Order: sequence, then C-alpha cells, then structure tokens
Amino acid sequence: MKKILITGGNGFIAFNFIKMMLKTDYYIVSLDNLSLSGYLNHETINIKSDKFEFIKCDIISNDVCELIEKYRFDAIINFAAESHVDKSIHSSNLFVDTNIKGTNNLLTICEDLIKKNILSNDFRFIQVSTDEVYGSLTKTEPAFTEYSILKPTNPYSATKASADLICMSYFKTHYFPVMITRCSNNYGPYQYPEKLIPLAINKIVNNKKIPIYGNGQQIRDWIYVEDHCLGIKKVLERGRLGEVYNFGGYSELTNLDIIENIIQIMKPNEISNQYIEYVEDRPGHDTRYAINADKALNELGWKPLHKFSDAIDETVNWYMNNNEWSQNIMQTDQYKNWMEKQY
Ligand code: DAU
Repeated sequence: MKKILITGGNGFIAFNFIKMMLKTDYYIVSLDNLSLSGYLNHETINIKSDKFEFIKCDIISNDVCELIEKYRFDAIINFAAESHVDKSIHSSNLFVDTNIKGTNNLLTICEDLIKKNILSNDFRFIQVSTDEVYGSLTKTEPAFTEYSILKPTNPYSATKASADLICMSYFKTHYFPVMITRCSNNYGPYQYPEKLIPLAINKIVNNKKIPIYGNGQQIRDWIYVEDHCLGIKKVLERGRLGEVYNFGGYSELTNLDIIENIIQIMKPNEISNQYIEYVEDRPGHDTRYAINADKALNELGWKPLHKFSDAIDETVNWYMNNNEWSQNIMQTDQYKNWMEKQY
C-alpha cells in the first residue's frame, strides 16, 4: 500500500482530500502544526482508520526529516500554508515562514533522502499552490493558463509564487520529482469561517450582516472542493514531473452574486440588501481570477463534476446542519481576536 504524507492535513482542502483518499488504497499520514486553535480536537485529527495517522509537527521543523526518513513515503502532498489574504496584509511573517521556508525545508530534506536512496525513484512531491500567483485579470482578459506570467499582488500570493519558483528550481537543478497544482477559489464543508462563503453563511445564521469589501464587483472562479481534490489525485497518479496543472470551476461570479445566492438559499424571497454591509475595500484587492484548465482536461482527463448551483446549496446546508462545528471555531479567542482586528 502506498504511503502518502499530507502536510497541513487539518486544513480545509487537505482534510477533504484525506477523506476522499481514505476510500481508496493509500496509507495516509497527516501532519499539521495545529496553528488554528479552532481545529484542535475536532474530527480532522480523530479519524478512526487503520490506514490513517495524525502527527503534530511543523513543516519548518527539523523533526520532519526524521518522520520522512522513518516512513519512506511514496509521495508528499504539501497543502500546508498560511492561506488568508487579509491576514497576510496585517503581517506577512508567518506566511514567509510556512509558505516559503516550510516548503524549502521539505524540498531540501526530500532531495537529500532521494540522494541517499531512502526515498525511492518513484517518489513524487506535489506542491498545492493557487491561481493567485498569476495576479489579477481585467474583466475582459483571457483566463490564466499554466504559461501565464507570475505576478502576485499580495503578501500571501507572493509567498506562494516564491514557493512555486523554488519548487521549479529544484526540478531544473536536481531533477527533483515535483509537480505544482494551481486552483481557483474552493468552497465546501470544513472551510475555516474567515473565508467569504463560510463567513457569509455564519453571519446569516447569527443574524448579522455580511461584510462586503468595496463594491462587491470582484470576480472569483469558484470550484467545489471535491473537484479540486480529484484533480490533485489525478496529478499524483498521472501527472508529468516538472509540470504545472491549473484547476478551476468554470464558474466566475462576482462577490455580490455569491452573497446573493447564499441569502436566497437561506432566506428565500427576502430582500438581500438587509443582510449586506459594504465595508472598506481590501488594500490591493485583485479584480478578477479566472482559470483555463484545458491542460488538466487534455492530459489528466479531469473536469469539474459539480455545478455551482447544486454544490453551493449542499455547502450551505452542510454549514447549517453542522453549526456546532463553526460555533466551536468562532468561540476561540484566536478567531474572535481576528474578527475584531479585521472588521
Ligand atoms: O484563488 C484562490 C485563493 O482563494 C486561495 O489561494 C486563498 O487561499 C483563498 O483564501 C482565496 O482567496 P480570496 O482572497 O479570493 O478568498 P476570500 O474568501 O478571502 O475572499 C473572496 C472574495 O471575497 C475576495 O474578493 C474578497 C471578498 N471578501 C472576503 C471577505 C473575507 C469580502 O468582500 N468580505 C469578506 O469579509
């Protein structure tokens, strides 16, 4: 049975990926530094399966070397990242540490273990990146392809782009077996409620207004998290070394459209304006992201299987039915302090 290390296993996308992979024939080790206290003790670390282990560890620490050496993984999928743009605007330090130094630490360790034949010739490293590394599009420009120039605009995306460049340099210099995935905005169960969709749902559940930055006309390309996870699995099984693969939902919507969709699901026939509050815009707010995922379609046979209208309905229902999950996070000091600082 192939052994895979999932870094940042407690996070939203990684946890959904783990749940999907546990239905297949892989042995999963999930590693997380538990930096988001709201995720402590919840089911992300309590999965009961003889094909799963959770280990508390930081990708930037030296302990990670011993771990990789002990398990001799067939693949590492690096999901670990500080991922919230707004937090990176307040302070970029943690983003540089985890996203750049952490990734570099993993690459250095793995490169050494490959040289020593501790990791096999078939070893694979997948760097889970983001469409934000390409920067922002105008409303009429064509969608990003894998060959678009990297032009990140905020500290978060700059650290992700840096990590991508280091990964590619390892491929060119050492023929290190890396592949990079870049996906658009994900939504679905278990997303930390600092991000737009779970934040909006929880605001309505708690009878509060949803904060919309600026005029709400910024566009994002939304993809259901399971579709992204399937793409990563395809890259693991069929991706070519040194390649980048874009994933997107072919579902471009303005922030205002998204919010109105959510309000219509939760409060049908009510006037949406009463649930919205326009607040100061995010500094350097990217106007539009859009992904061309033809390469994933042509090379990997991947395409998104979920329609936005169905999957957003399912997502809203998940948060409403699992309100305790969100409340546990929202009651932590870490979350409350963030909300106070940001809004
Ligand atoms: O494109 C992929 C990226 O998508 C990922 O790499 C990031 O990790 C992920 O956080 C996401 O970045 P965004 O900045 O697009 O996501 P966020 O949910 O923070 O915001 C989505 C849009 O909604 C964005 O235009 C800002 C806006 N927004 C967000 C929040 C939290 C608001 O208007 N109000 C809010 O309170």
